[in-house]
Amino acid sequence: MQAAAKPAFGTVLTENMAVAEFRDGRWQAHELKPVAPIPLHPAAHVLHYGSECFEGFKAHRGKDGAISVFRMDRHIERMRQSARQLVLPEPDAAQLATMVREVVRAAREQVPEPPGALYLRPMLLGTTPNIGAAATPSATALLIVLASPVWDYFAGGAKALRIFVEDQKTRTASHLGVVKTGGNYAAALGLTLEARKQYGVDQVLFCPGGSVQETGAANFLLLRDGQLLTRSLDSSFLHGVTRDSLLTMARDLGFRVEERAFDVAEMLEWVKTGEAALSGTAAVLAGVGTLVTRDGEHKVGDGGIGPVTRRLREALVAVQTGAVSDTRGWLERI
Ligand code: PLP
Ligand code: COI
Repeated sequence: MQAAAKPAFGTVLTENMAVAEFRDGRWQAHELKPVAPIPLHPAAHVLHYGSECFEGFKAHRGKDGAISVFRMDRHIERMRQSARQLVLPEPDAAQLATMVREVVRAAREQVPEPPGALYLRPMLLGTTPNIGAAATPSATALLIVLASPVWDYFAGGAKALRIFVEDQKTRTASHLGVVKTGGNYAAALGLTLEARKQYGVDQVLFCPGGSVQETGAANFLLLRDGQLLTRSLDSSFLHGVTRDSLLTMARDLGFRVEERAFDVAEMLEWVKTGEAALSGTAAVLAGVGTLVTRDGEHKVGDGGIGPVTRRLREALVAVQTGAVSDTRGWLERI
C-alpha cells in the first residue's frame, strides 16, 4: 500500500497557540488559545520596521510513545539573543519554556511518528503603533508559540540536493547573519528563486567574496570518513543547534572536526572525493549531490547521499527519538 502524501513542511498547524504580551515594561501572563488571526494595529512596528525574530525546533515521538523536545534551552537562548540584537523585549526563558510545553502537551496526539516530528515555532513581534518609530524600539511586543506536524523540509525527500554556489552576493548584513529574523529570509528569497529558475537548484549556498558561509535555511558541512569541516562561528551566519549537535557527536565518534574559514576552491576540491551536507532543524542532515557554480556543475562524490552523511544523520535521529540514551541532557520529556 502506498503511504498517504504528507502535507508540505509548515502548512498545517495544531489547534492551539500560546500567546504572551509585553506591555507596561513587563511580560504579562500567557494564555493557550485556539490558533486564529491576531489583532495587530496597521501601524505596528513589525509591519513597518521588521522588528521580528523567531525560532524553530522539534518535539519527537520515541518508540515508547514518549514525546521529547530537543535542545529547547539552546533555542530559547538564541531567541533571547536575537531579541537583544533587534532591541525587542527579551522573552523570559522560563515563561517561554512553559509556553512551549503547554503547546506540545495540547498537541501530544498530533506528534507524528519519526521521520515526522512536531515543529515548534516561537515568534516575537514589535507591536507599538507608531509609523515614525524607524529609529525607536517597540515598547510592546507579542510572543506566540505555534506548532506544526512536519515531515521532509526538502520536497525531494531523501534525494541528494542540488545547490547553487553564490560567490558574490550576501544572504544578509554581516552582523545580522547570527540573528534569526524574518528580514534575513526576505533578503535571500529573491536570490534563491532566481537561482532556482536559472540553474534548477534546491537552495543557494552563500559564499560572499568566495568564503563559504551557509544556505538560506541551513548550515553547511563538508564530510568524509572520520573528518568534518565547517565554517567557524562568527556573526555572519546562524549558529545552528543541529550544527553544534553534529559537531559534538562527530567528536565523540572520533572524527577530526575542523572549524575554520574555507573558500569555494577548497570546497570544490573536497567534494571530488568527499561529501557535503546541509544541517538544520528542518533539514536534519541533508546530503548535497551537486554544486553548481557560474562555471558549471560539480558532482559531490558519486552524486548521491554519502555514507558519512547517512551515518551522522542516523546517529542524530537516534538521540532525538530516544533510540539511544541521551547522555548529554539534550532531551526534555514532555
Ligand atoms: N541557518 C539558517 C539560515 C537557518 O534558517 C537554520 C534553521 O534554523 C539553520 C542555519 C540551522 O539552525 P538549527 O540547526 O538551529 O535549526
Ligand atoms: C529551521 O530549520 O528551523 C528553519 O529555520 C528552516 C525554516 C526557515 C523552515
